[in-house]
Formats: sequence, structure tokens, C-alpha cells
Amino acid sequence: MSKVSMIHHINIQITDRQRTREWYEKVLGAEFLDRGPALNKRQLQLRIGTGEIHTSDTSEVIQVPQVHFAIEVEDWEGTLKHLDSLGVSCSRSAGGAFTGTGGDDPKQGRREDTNEHYTYIRDPDGNLIELVYHILGLESSQGKDLELTSDPQNVRWTQNSGFVEDAYKAEPVQSA
Ligand SMILES: [Fe+2]
Repeated sequence: MSKVSMIHHINIQITDRQRTREWYEKVLGAEFLDRGPALNKRQLQLRIGTGEIHTSDTSEVIQVPQVHFAIEVEDWEGTLKHLDSLGVSCSRSAGGAFTGTGGDDPKQGRREDTNEHYTYIRDPDGNLIELVYHILGLESSQGKDLELTSDPQNVRWTQNSGFVEDAYKAEPVQSA
């Protein structure tokens, strides 16, 4: 079996595409991925760090306790300040869903093995997101430090050349 290289995307349930897009752009610096009119109609896709978030529209999100995804951030204190300035509350225990380890700050904790900083937030549909910051960094199998996110614009998956432009020519509607 071929070795897995990375998790490409996570898919979340949402009730309002525009609200979701704006929230992820504003709160987590996500970038709207314009796939052209047909694919934009199918789902909302966002780039976040080196990964993507895809969405499934639903009229009512089914919340499953403790189900979440986690994202790595580069500036821990800056992230917490940013969340605070936007009125996004963060929690060490995710509202009791987790016991919460490392210190007694209700807004954040530390994990034993990597000194990883962590906190939990919820998006407008209640999807639980864990934010983590690995203070010791990332290393290769040879123990070398890696800078996966050193590209200031972040990496992206190569698309068929001219795909979006051609899609708009074929179906000229406003981008989602
Ligand atoms: Fe987690």
C-alpha cells in the first residue's frame, strides 16, 4: 500500500455558506478556493494552512460530542489575542467534553509529551475546533527541523491549468 503523505481536507457540516466563509476567513485566516461556478455550487472549499476545509450543506448540524479537528497555529499569544478581539471564546475543556490538562487556565492548557499549547473554539455551526501550537516544532524522521509552512502564502495543490478561467467562460456567473 502506498504511504499516506498527509491529510488533505476535513469536511464539516454547515448551514450557511457565506457565514461559514466569513467566519473562517476572519477568525482563522482561511482563504476561499474559487473552483469555478459548477464546483463552487457543489460545496464551499477553503484553504487553511497546508490543508483544506470542505463543507456539506445541511439544515441542521448533527453535533457529535468530542468530534473535532485540530489546526496548528504559528503565533500562540497572537492567536489568543485575535480570538479575544473577535469575541470568540476559547476553552481548555471544550465545555466539559474533555478533562483539560496542563495548568489551571480555563482558556488554554498544555500537553505533557510535546509541551503543546491547546485550546478549543466553536465555529458558528458549533463545529469544535482545537487550536494547537507545538512549541518544540516539527521534525523529520532524521530529527531535522522542518518548516512546512514557510511559504508566506502557504502551499496549494496544483490545479489543471486554466481550469477556473475556463469554467467561468463556460458558465459566467458570479463567484460564490
Ligand atoms: Fe484533539
